[in-house]
Parts: sequence; structure tokens; C-alpha cells
Amino acid sequence: MRDAFELRATDGMARVGRLTVPRAGVTVETPALMPVINPNIQTISPQRLHDEFGAEILITNSYIIRKTDDLRERALEEGLHEMLDFPGAIVTDSGSFQLAEYGEIDTTTTEILQFQHDIGSDIGTPVDIPTPPDVSHDQAAAELDRTEAALADAAAVDTGEMLVNAPVQGSTHLDLREEAGAHAAATDLDVFPVGAVVPLLNAYRYDDMVEVTAAAKRGLHADCPVHLFGAGHPMMFAQAAAIGCDLFDSAAYALYARDGRYLTVRGTEQLEDLSYLPCPCPVCAEHDPDSLRALDDRAKEEQLAAHNLHVTFAEIRRVRQAVREGTLLELVEERARAHPASADGYRALLNQNEQLEEHDRVSKGTFFYTSAESARRPEVLRHHERLARLETPSTMLLSEFGPPENHDYDAVWRVEPPFGPYPTSLSETYPLNAATPDHLEPPAYVAAADGIRSLVEANRKTAFTLGHDGWPDEALDAVPESVTLENLSDLGE
Ligand code: GUN
Ligand code: ZN
Repeated sequence: MRDAFELRATDGMARVGRLTVPRAGVTVETPALMPVINPNIQTISPQRLHDEFGAEILITNSYIIRKTDDLRERALEEGLHEMLDFPGAIVTDSGSFQLAEYGEIDTTTTEILQFQHDIGSDIGTPVDIPTPPDVSHDQAAAELDRTEAALADAAAVDTGEMLVNAPVQGSTHLDLREEAGAHAAATDLDVFPVGAVVPLLNAYRYDDMVEVTAAAKRGLHADCPVHLFGAGHPMMFAQAAAIGCDLFDSAAYALYARDGRYLTVRGTEQLEDLSYLPCPCPVCAEHDPDSLRALDDRAKEEQLAAHNLHVTFAEIRRVRQAVREGTLLELVEERARAHPASADGYRALLNQNEQLEEHDRVSKGTFFYTSAESARRPEVLRHHERLARLETPSTMLLSEFGPPENHDYDAVWRVEPPFGPYPTSLSETYPLNAATPDHLEPPAYVAAADGIRSLVEANRKTAFTLGHDGWPDEALDAVPESVTLENLSDLGE
């Protein structure tokens, strides 16, 4: 049992939680954004991140600090909190990223973790091996052995109250990611970053990001706080949270600002290309694109970084609110419509609907059906599983309309896409109280037919009739042959 992490609310696999960071003497609300601080170049000061943007936690790189003489001396003397002037929690990375970029580094887990402890880090990181995507299974497995050895080395360092990261690697091999998750959860380390996803995110492979993260989560426990290492673009927070990520780190706000890039929850724009600033943050309220472009390079970079941070923190708050309301999948769906990469990520998320369904709470507010993909949501799957456990009398009408005036059926149930049949007594309960648009796409009817199949297969002795409002052929084809079909669309007019 990990008592440092407390779940406050859940929605599917997403959660709002509280991470207690004992060495900093603070608790951090999750999902949380950790701005990345480059100790050499600070576009926005840590104090400002805390006071103006509400950052409760940030992440910096102990390897860079250790290699830079004056930073090393100051960090050892004053401690990181004073050096950076930040009152919240400070996470330190180990140099693994430099290892992945440049092929080698001159330190070990034992040495760099001790150093992280000595400079006052609150959450330290061993030297894991960030195996890139698409390498052979042999290479990924061999490098995972080295990461697991680093976790053992880390566990052997006396780190006092400092929490320690246990990165989960395994490249794009899902079996390795799951095994790595289970191995990490079995250590007594504290926080669980899913590693080496940066190349996937940079290539907009959000579907692969969802798959490797879902695999890692299958190995981890629900009480493990999970960090998606290197994920800082706000357009993917909702879907990463939906698969169960609790911590994000953003270098993007500063790196993008340096290149004149303006973040939005729908993607990235070039300041050069904007005619308007479509954002209510203080930077965008006080400027227009021309006045931003007219600033000198430093001022422009600072303003863009501030805008990027406002957008990024706002999306984190939106995700938290959605989790508390039980509407996170609606937010994911909204984001998925804005960018093809998010659309791929959402599809991959829905492919995990059994894993999502296991974690989903039974009741929320109202299910909003907003696109054909809604038909694959875990609530629909759960309803179909439930239908397979319901018993029915000898003759039944399943109808999109109310019961006919005179009939001989033993029972009449409503049918509604995408759920399928349900007893009328459940019509006001979640998710059957769904709000659906007047026009539905064929996948919604096919999903309803799948629901009918579930019920029919569990009740072979019942004679079923389906009264439908002109369903498309592909849905009628999915209804079991034993069901009598009646097209009642004339009634609907
Ligand atoms: N930063 C981005 N990805 C990684 C990773 O996989 N491991 C570490 N230690 N840092 C990272
Ligand atoms: Zn703005």
C-alpha cells in the first residue's frame, strides 16, 4: 500500500488525487503539471511559476546541475529550493535523457541519486535506459534489464524522505511495458514515470502512446502515481489522463516560445501566422499578434512562454474538473475532433474499453453522445455485459417506440442506440439517460444490435421482436437471425 498517493475522484482510469511529498512538506493535487526548469536558462522564474501560475511542483535536471561548476556548488551549499527560489516540490531527473540523446553519460544511479539527495531534491530519479520505440524485442528486453538493475541500485541508496521515481521502459513492446510496470510496482519506490514516450509524442504517435501507457498501467497498481515523462503538450492531457496518467512535465512551454510557437489545446500555431489571439489569458488580452511580434526577442519569448503556460495549466484544471464531473471522455472526444493525432489516440483509448470499463464508476451525470466514436465508450460495453445477465419472459418486444396500444407480448422494453435494449424502469439511470443527437451514425445502431445480441444469446428460449425506426442494413445484419424484425419507421413520422 502506497500511502503517499490518495485518490479523491475517478472517471474511468483517470483520477484526481493527492500526492504527499514529505521532503517538501507539501501535497500536490493531481493531475499536475510540472514545468521543466532549465537551471541555466529560466524564461519564467520558479517563483513566478508558483505565485502566478499555481505550480505546486516542478522538475529540473540534476545531471546538468552536477556538470555545471557554479550550479553544483550553489546547489550543494544552499539546496535546490533556495537556489531556484521555489517553495513547492522539486523533482530531479538523472541524465537518462542525455543518455538517450548523446549515447553516454558519466555517472551512475548510486552516485547521481546520492547527489540528488544531497542538493535537497524531493523526488529523485535513477539512471533508467530510455529505449526508443520500434527497436527489437531483444534489445528492449536487454535494456529493460539494465533499467531494472538501476531501480535495485536506487532502492539501495539511503535517500531518507526523498521519494524516488521507478521509470517504466520497454519501448513499443507491450508485454515488456506490462512486465516493467509490475516489476516497478513491486519495488518500494514511489512514483512511476512511463519513459521514452517523447519520440512517440514528437512524431504525433498518440495511438502508440496510449497503447504503451495502457500496457504499463496493467502492470502497475491503482495506487501508483504515474508520470508521463516528457509529455507537455496540452492537447494530449485529456487522453493521457483518461488512460491513468497523473503527472505531466512541460518543457514545451519554453522550447516552443523560443521558436515563436503558440500552444493551444487544439495544436500548435506559429505566432507569424496568427491574425488574432484566440485565448483569454492576460498575455492575449493585452496584446494582438502585431504587438507581440513587435517585441524584442527576449520579451516576445517571455510573453509566449507565459501564454503557453496559461493554456497548459488551464487544460490541467479542465481535466480535473471533468474527472470530478465524470465527463472526461466527452473532453477527450472534443479534443479528438480538433487534431488527427488526438483522433488516433482516442481510437486507441477506446480499443482499451475493457480495461477502462473495469475501472469506471457506475454512475455519473449524463452520457453525452457526440460522435460515432461515442458508441464504443466503456459505458456501452458495460451495458452490453449487463444485458447478458438479465432474464426475459417467453415473448418480448424490443422497441424504439413506446409499447403498442394492444399487444400480446409478455414484456416490452425500450431500445436506444447505442445501448440497445433495457427495461423501462432503468430509463432514468446512468448511462441510459444519455443525451443523443437526433441524427445518429450507423455505428450507434450497430452497437445497439450488439446489445440485442447479448440479451438474445443469454435468453435462447425467448421469442424476440425488434421494432425499429428504419435501421441501416449493417445494423439489421448484426441483429441475431432469430429476432423478428418490424420496421416501424412509419410510426416515427
Ligand atoms: N525524460 C523524458 N523521457 C525520459 C525517460 O524515459 N527517462 C528519464 N529519466 N527522463 C526522461
Ligand atoms: Zn493566451
